[in-house]
Amino acid sequence: MTFDRSLKIAPSILSADFADFGREIQAIEAQGADWVHIDVMDGHFVPNLTFGPPAVKAFRKHVKTVMDVHLMIAPVDPYIEAYAEAGADILTAHVEAGPHIHRTLQAIRATGMKAGVALNPGTPAEAVAHVLDLADLVCVMTVNPGFGGQKFIDMTAKIRTLRDMIGDRPTHIEIDGGVDPTTAPLVVGAGADVLVAGSAVFKGGTVETPEVYGTNMQAIRASIDA
Ligand code: DX5
Ligand code: ZN
Repeated sequence: MTFDRSLKIAPSILSADFADFGREIQAIEAQGADWVHIDVMDGHFVPNLTFGPPAVKAFRKHVKTVMDVHLMIAPVDPYIEAYAEAGADILTAHVEAGPHIHRTLQAIRATGMKAGVALNPGTPAEAVAHVLDLADLVCVMTVNPGFGGQKFIDMTAKIRTLRDMIGDRPTHIEIDGGVDPTTAPLVVGAGADVLVAGSAVFKGGTVETPEVYGTNMQAIRASIDA
C-alpha cells in the first residue's frame, strides 16, 4: 500500500446483508469501493457483537482492495496476531480500549499490518499526540460506536486539529459514522481523506441490485467535488 491522500470511500459491511458478506463485498468493490471497512465488535467495548478472526479470514478471500479492520474491542493486544493471520491490511485500535496504545500500535506494525488509532467523539485529538509516528491512520468517530445508521456528530474542529498535528506524515484521517453526501463535504473540508460509510452506501440496494451501491457512492464523491 503506497500512501496518497486522494479521497477514498470505505463502505462498512456492518450495513450489509449478514447472510451474504462474500457477495456484498464483491458488489461494493465492483461498484467502486476503494477499501472495505470491517467493523469488529465484542459486546464489551461497545454494546454490540459482530464477528471475529475466523469471519474476517473468510472475508479476506473476497476483498481485492484494502481490508480496513476497525476493532471496537478491549483488550486489543491478545488478538492482534489473529487479525494479522486473517489478512487485515489495516488494523485500527481505539485509544480508549486500554492503557497502552503506544505498545498496541507498535505490536500491530510489528506484524506487517498498517496501524490505525480510533478516537470516540468524547476523546480529544491530543490523546494521540504522542503516537502519530506509529499511526498510518487516525479514525475519527462521528458517532458513538456500536451501530450503523446513527446521526452524525460534528467533529470538524477535532479533524482540523488532527490535520495540523499530522502535518506531512503519511497518515490518513478516516471518518467513521453518519457519513453521507451532506456530511462528507464538511469532513473532507476539515482535512479527512478516507470516508467510511455504511447506511449511506447500502441504503436502498441489495446484492441483487448493486448499482444502487454505486449510485450511493457516486453521490458521496459528487458532494465533495461540488
Ligand atoms: C459504528 C461503525 C461504523 C458504522 C458506520 O460503530 O464503526 O463503521 O458501521 O455506519 P454508518 O455509515 O451507517 O454510520
Ligand atoms: Zn467502523
